[in-house]
This record gives sequence, structure tokens and C-alpha cells, in this order.
Amino acid sequence: MKIGIPKETKERELRVAISPEVTKNLISAGFEVLIQADAGKGSFFSDQDYSSVGATIAPNENAVYSTADIILKVNAPLLNEVAMMKKGATLISFMWAATNTDLVEACVKAGISSFSMDAIPRISRAQKMDALSSQSNLAGYKTVLLGANALGKIFPMMMTAAGTIKPCKIVIMGAGVAGLQAVATAKRLGAIVLVSDIRPETKEQVESLGGKFIEVAGDTSITTEGGYVKSVSEEFLKKQQELIFKHVSEADLVITTALIPGKKAPVLITEEMVKNMRLGSVIVDMAVEQGGNCPLSELNKTVIKHGVTIIGESNLPSMLSLNASELYAKNIQTFLLHLATKEGFKWELDEEITKGSLITHNGVVVHPALQKK
Ligand code: NAI
Repeated sequence: MKIGIPKETKERELRVAISPEVTKNLISAGFEVLIQADAGKGSFFSDQDYSSVGATIAPNENAVYSTADIILKVNAPLLNEVAMMKKGATLISFMWAATNTDLVEACVKAGISSFSMDAIPRISRAQKMDALSSQSNLAGYKTVLLGANALGKIFPMMMTAAGTIKPCKIVIMGAGVAGLQAVATAKRLGAIVLVSDIRPETKEQVESLGGKFIEVAGDTSITTEGGYVKSVSEEFLKKQQELIFKHVSEADLVITTALIPGKKAPVLITEEMVKNMRLGSVIVDMAVEQGGNCPLSELNKTVIKHGVTIIGESNLPSMLSLNASELYAKNIQTFLLHLATKEGFKWELDEEITKGSLITHNGVVVHPALQKK
């Protein structure tokens, strides 16, 4: 079984699907590894790092796509990249299949079996394969540093001969994996941290990290599925906005991470709230790619509106490419060794992790959620 790793082509992407350490592990497990020249450069892995553990360096992407039995990627491949793949080959990558229908169709047409990293079930057994968590965790850390850098003040209280500096007040919206790491990072830097989430179980998690929880009284419109928020009513969002208005007006930094899978991100920080924020305060909108938790944020831009700096960076894990690639590679290694041996894939179609993540196989769409449509 030959594994191929092309260089990522998405703009602003510095990650690579496999690290030299994981390359070594997969070669020890009996796989062959072929990696495109410079694929690891953005993550500070040289071709020599890969070749010294037994990988072959391919001169271009076509040499990888056209000969590998398994293609490992970070971002979903482009349609022309799928077209280069060998019939019957297997793709493992983030795919976002529910909204990336052209890619799913292209895989069907090209006879490619595809597994989507974003569809691996969030169950304990699959934690080591959970790339959503490994990448969100790093993104949550980076978001605090970006906010800190854009502020004209420091986080901790500081008593100096020239006077006492008050600690920063940070509001974090959404306490999923990224939000909780942001709480931990901001606390370590000495800020006062307030957090809002609509899943009640997050209160205890936030408090255990030293954050204060802003409680919005529950409402029957909130539904969850597999730990995710599935839907929430407009009335609830309005009630939540009223409650957080005061906290946001007093905040130095607001970090928003609230997402509802498969839907546009909820608007939590309205223009009215931004107008009421202090001059020089900062918003980092992690949900910018899904439409943003603040309607004023702009994709991949830092803008100043009503005196507030709004950061809309969409690929935060790529800004920590070394760690992000190392962790993603470990996720991929565990996932691949769960699915396959050097002899080939096991194709246990009823096994929970396979069933949750396999999108196309044998020329058809097999994922249950996509078949219903
Ligand atoms: P996510 O990135 O989909 O969403 C981020 C957060 O936004 C969530 O906590 C959500 O409740 C919150 N949110 C949605 N609407 C909001 C609103 N109006 N106001 C404030 N917050 C709002 O979440 P992530 O980080 O991907 O985690 C999703 C779930 O998966 C969680 O329940 C988490 O505990 C679970 N999980 C389970 C794992 C496992 O068992 N292996 C591993 C990782 C996560």
C-alpha cells in the first residue's frame, strides 16, 4: 500500500497531513510513503527529514496523486486533484461533505473511496483520531494571543511604582474545545474571563478553569445531537444578546467561537454592541468562515469599526503549523491504522467509526446523512 501526501494548495495553508515521525511509524507498519517535494516546508519539516526516515520525495503533485493507493490531505482536494487520483484509491482528508457536494460527486465519478476527518464520531474510542479537537484546541490558544497582540494593554493586574494597572476583562462566547482552551490561556495570562455557552454542562467546565459563567436561563428551543447544538430559537438569541450586552460593553477583548454544525453561525455580537464597546477594544471572531458571530467581521481581514479592532482570521491552526501538523498527523496515523493494514483496507462498513466517516465507496455515496438528501 503506497501512501501519497501532496503539498497543500489552499491559500494561507501551512500545514501538511503527515510529520516525519508519523512517516517513520507508517513505514514501520509496512506502508510505503511518497511525499511531494516541499510539502512539509510550511510546517518546518524538510524533504531530508522525510527521506531520512524512508519516504520517497516526489517531484510534483501528479506523481503523488497518480500512483498512491491512499492520499492523505489536510484540506479537501480540488476537483482537478481528484481527477488525477488512481481509480479505486482512497482519500483521507477534511471534506465537509454535507456542503461540498461537487467533491462528493467527483469522488463517486472517479471511483474514489473517501473518509472525511471532520465526520469521525466524537466518541471516547475515537479521541486520538479527532482532528476537529486537535486543531480547535490550538486555534483557541492562538485566538487569545492574536487578541492580546492587538490590544493596547496587558492582561494581568500589575502594581508598579507608577500606578496600578487593572486586569483585562475578556468575554468568550462558546465553550467548546476552542473556547475552553481560550479560557485556560487567557487565565494563565492573568485576565478576568467571563464565558457564555448555551449547553448547560459547559458551566462546570468553565468554572474548573477559573472562568465565570454567564448563565442564560434555558429554553426548550435548544436541541442537541451528539453533544452539538442542533438549533436554537431567535427569541433565545435575543434574550442572550440582552444579557451579554453589559458584559461586552465592559470587555477589553471578546472572543467568539460559537458554531452550530451545518448552519450559519449565530449572531451574538450585534453592531449595536460593537458601538457600545470601548475604544481600542478587540473582537476575535473565530466563526468568521461560517458567517461570523459578529456581522462586522470580515473573512481573513482585521478591520476597525466604531473604534473596535475586529479580527477575522479563518485558519488559526495554520498559524501554529508545526504543532497543528504534528497533531493532525497523529490523528491520521491512528485513524489509518484503525482502518487498514499494509495488506489493504478492512472495509468494516458497520463499524461505528468507519460508518461515521466513510463518505463514498465502490462508486456510490455511502454516508447515511448524505443518502437521506
Ligand atoms: P463547536 O465548535 O461545534 O461549537 C462551539 C461552541 O459553541 C459549543 O460549545 C456550542 O455549544 C457553542 N454555541 C452554539 N451556539 C451558541 C450560542 N448561541 N451562544 C453561546 N455558545 C454557543 O463545538 P466543539 O468544540 O466542536 O464541540 C462540540 C461537542 O463535541 C461538545 O459537546 C464537546 O464536548 C463534544 N466533544 C466530544 C469529544 C469526545 O467525546 N471525543 C471530543 C471533542 C468534543
